[in-house]
Amino acid sequence: MIEFRPLDGPFGCAVYGLDVGAGVAAETCRKLHETLYEHRVLVLKDQTCNADAYLTFGRQWGAPIPHVIDTSRMPGFPEMMEVGNTTERSKDALARNSAAFWHTDQSYDADPATATMLYARKIPDVGGETRVIDMKAAYDDLDEATRQRIDKLNAMHLYGATSGRDGEAPTAALNKTQAAEVPPTPHPLVRAHTVTGDRALYGVAGTAFGIDGMAAAEGEALIAKLKAHCVQDRYIYEHKYQVGDIAMWDTQMTLHAAKPIGLPDGEGRERLLWRISVRGKPAVYQ
Ligand SMILES: [Fe+2]
Repeated sequence: MIEFRPLDGPFGCAVYGLDVGAGVAAETCRKLHETLYEHRVLVLKDQTCNADAYLTFGRQWGAPIPHVIDTSRMPGFPEMMEVGNTTERSKDALARNSAAFWHTDQSYDADPATATMLYARKIPDVGGETRVIDMKAAYDDLDEATRQRIDKLNAMHLYGATSGRDGEAPTAALNKTQAAEVPPTPHPLVRAHTVTGDRALYGVAGTAFGIDGMAAAEGEALIAKLKAHCVQDRYIYEHKYQVGDIAMWDTQMTLHAAKPIGLPDGEGRERLLWRISVRGKPAVYQ
């Protein structure tokens, strides 16, 4: 019996009684898709699956994306990443906290992520939360004049464009080869969800550095104003992980940020999550 319960916050839904390791039937998966699109965040509780089963589940949501920083890919599973403070790469503070700023995944890519999931393997007693913003709620609350002003605009995005701004952690830089793979790319400032058609503010933090056809200062000021509107408590859900959670969010309708963490210096300090980001539509909608 699968049970859906609201998360402790302004939005999001927890799912009990589902076993990803046993395989998720198409009909059940469709219900999960619909629930994610309605609630932005899903947390599948008490999972015990291995990496193969997790990746199989990930593929039910779209095409898993190998990260542009190839050294961050999980050994043996290039479409997955190990996120946290336990890997060799995470000894570097910049790499360890390279998601500790507001962003949505692959917004620097012409074909960005449509969902991201993190499977909690090790969780510290304190810290290591992820915060998520409901960008549809933020859009719906804009006044009519602002909506009319922005509805047809395209923002320009580039990996690392706003790195270290607003007191946020900087992101790890790309090397020349990696940077050549992700040149500047436009996305609508107000973007329609590829399955539901719902409209929401898209990617106004992290990679947006200007507005197409607008003077640089004016474009930056508009993006900063929209970001400030979105980063309000009433639009934010903060997830405190438990081991076994698969937390996922609709990257077309949200921004997210990791809380910065230190190196593990004792019991209950390790953080390890397996990340999968996908692009495209789930198979049932193709
Ligand atoms: Fe992210």
